[in-house]
Amino acid sequence: MADPTTQDVVDLLTTDHHEVLDLLQEIKTSTVPDRRRELADVVIGELVRHSVAEEMFVYPAMRRHLPDGDAAVEHDVGEHKELESLMKRWESLDGDSPDFDEVLAQLEEVLRDHVQDEESEQFPQLRAHIRADKLVELAAKVETAKKLAPTRPHPSAPHSELFHKTIGPGVGMVDRLRDKLTGRQTG
Ligand SMILES: [Fe+2]
Ligand SMILES: [Fe+2]
Repeated sequence: MADPTTQDVVDLLTTDHHEVLDLLQEIKTSTVPDRRRELADVVIGELVRHSVAEEMFVYPAMRRHLPDGDAAVEHDVGEHKELESLMKRWESLDGDSPDFDEVLAQLEEVLRDHVQDEESEQFPQLRAHIRADKLVELAAKVETAKKLAPTRPHPSAPHSELFHKTIGPGVGMVDRLRDKLTGRQTG
């Protein structure tokens, strides 16, 4: 694991990507519906936090410093929206329903493509155009932003209760989590 005091924002976001992709594999290999549902909630929690933190701190830096920053951000935000609408469908599906697997497959496809774009194009450009110490500062900001919503409900840990009480799981989890992170008010 990278040293948290010196890891930069690219290390941090890349680790997030691969944790979520690993969770998707775990869901695919599990045959226990409740376990699959529980892991899906973890994926949703992690992915919304990751995307919101990117939109708050990383994408604005891309707009400012990358040669084609605006176009890259518009493309990436479009993919976040696709992921979000898939997660909104996914959050209400049982772990043994055929729709659950269909959404899972679509989510994985969009996410792999998105991760590929960020890691092969935008992240190397961030490192090329932004000073190393600034990228470490950005990592700290992303970490803090992610903490604005309660701890993820990791199924191997029993302390997911706070998360479940305040955020989810269930219908509306994606929106409620995003609202919590951005401070957005819903009527
Ligand atoms: Fe990302
Ligand atoms: Fe992203």
